[in-house]
Amino acid sequence: MKRKAYIVAITGASGSIYGFRLLEELIKHDFYVYLIISKPAFKVIKNELNMFGGLDADNNFAGKTAGGGYPIYSRDIVYDEIKSKFNIDNKDKDSNRNNYEYLDEMFIEAKISSGSAADVQGMAVIPCSMGSLSRIANGISGNLIERASDVMLKERKKLVICPRETPLNDIHLKNMLSLSRAGAVILPPTPAFYNRPESIGDMINFITGKIMDSFGIENNIYKRWNPDY
Ligand SMILES: Cc1cc2nc3c(=O)[nH]c(=O)nc-3n(C[C@H](O)[C@H](O)[C@H](O)COP(=O)(O)O)c2cc1C
Repeated sequence: MKRKAYIVAITGASGSIYGFRLLEELIKHDFYVYLIISKPAFKVIKNELNMFGGLDADNNFAGKTAGGGYPIYSRDIVYDEIKSKFNIDNKDKDSNRNNYEYLDEMFIEAKISSGSAADVQGMAVIPCSMGSLSRIANGISGNLIERASDVMLKERKKLVICPRETPLNDIHLKNMLSLSRAGAVILPPTPAFYNRPESIGDMINFITGKIMDSFGIENNIYKRWNPDY
């Protein structure tokens, strides 16, 4: 039986660091990860995490226009950037196995586009933009993130959606309700304070741990509520 796998999709909402932290933790737990990053997400990643900085000239298509086209990065560039920022390697040093694979959002013929991908246990869209949320809630399936999410719902596998926007309008709320009714877990990346976080890392770990909990993966990466009464 192939190694069990999860899909991590990073969309163009604020908080892409959550997606990378989840990638890291799933690999630590010896799961294989399919990583999808939407085109808008690359812009947010660049802005929030200072990644893909010096690559514009070679990798932007139409990127020089006032319209600000979307960059396309090769797999190797994505692996290198993630490795240099987070120390997450796509190749395991000891076993030489692959830890994860990056899939372009338009690679619609990827294995995970089909319900027949038996290794996939579940998927998290983290962070989830209101755009992706809407398209997933309405079954649009126009890119690999939307399609793989749709597959999770039809196969009754775990789909964790981490919507990031504030405040929320009726459309956002309606879409969240549709997704919840279709079987998704709506898990907004809102940190708690009862666990007395001391750093941004603590807050990120809290959300990562909650997603791992949703997947049913035992973890101890955040302080749980443990009242002494
Ligand atoms: C710096 C930055 C931050 C953004 N933050 C959010 C956000 O928190 N939530 C959201 O819904 N959209 C946000 N957006 C807008 C989305 O990126 C945009 O709607 C995009 O089309 C979403 O596409 P995607 O769902 O395919 O990734 C942000 C955009 C930028 C450039």
